[in-house]
Amino acid sequence: MTDYPFATEVITEVDLKSRVVELGQAISNDYLDRSPLFVVVLTGSVLFAADLVRNVAADSEVDFLGLNRYGEGGRIGIAMDLAAPVFDRNVIIVEDIGDTGLTLKVLRRMMTDRGAASVSTAARFDKTRRRVTDVPIEYRGFEVGDEFLVGYGLDWQGVYRNLRSIWAVMDIEAFVRDPKVLSKQLHSG
Ligand code: IMP
Ligand code: MG
Repeated sequence: MTDYPFATEVITEVDLKSRVVELGQAISNDYLDRSPLFVVVLTGSVLFAADLVRNVAADSEVDFLGLNRYGEGGRIGIAMDLAAPVFDRNVIIVEDIGDTGLTLKVLRRMMTDRGAASVSTAARFDKTRRRVTDVPIEYRGFEVGDEFLVGYGLDWQGVYRNLRSIWAVMDIEAFVRDPKVLSKQLHSG
């Protein structure tokens, strides 16, 4: 795995691929007799969702939800709502990463309030140690540490979502000074 003073590759493309197959199998087993509606949280989760649904052997539908955060408490609002109702549907929320857990908590309540028949969550990564609220993640890709991660959907100031593997930021100052410090290395020559 590649190493720079400011960032280290921590999860390879190969490991990401094999884990998503396992998650897809688990969902296929649990949803044999109910068609899941995947509620994909924009933007970072799009890559995970695309890989996940292709590994699920059950009639599936996919819909998208955009969130924004405002105010000091980081209140969560809807920037773009789902196209279809979730009433009576078996919803699987698809998130890129569970951090404090607040986003997932709000989303689960939103789906329940709208009358979903069931709600579960798939998250590509889980920063369990940073959780401030108790919220279940039924399908968890990788448990990760506290480091800020980029790649495979995860961004720093909009950059790095397209990387095929996951990198941990080792020197946050370097990324603050120059958000493209890593991409300059990766995409040069
Ligand atoms: P939560 O409400 O604190 O759980 O926030 C989760 C959201 O924070 C994710 O959907 C990401 O957009 C963002 N996030 C948390 N940790 C990271 C990270 O390490 N890299 C990039 N984005 C992150
Ligand atoms: Mg982000």
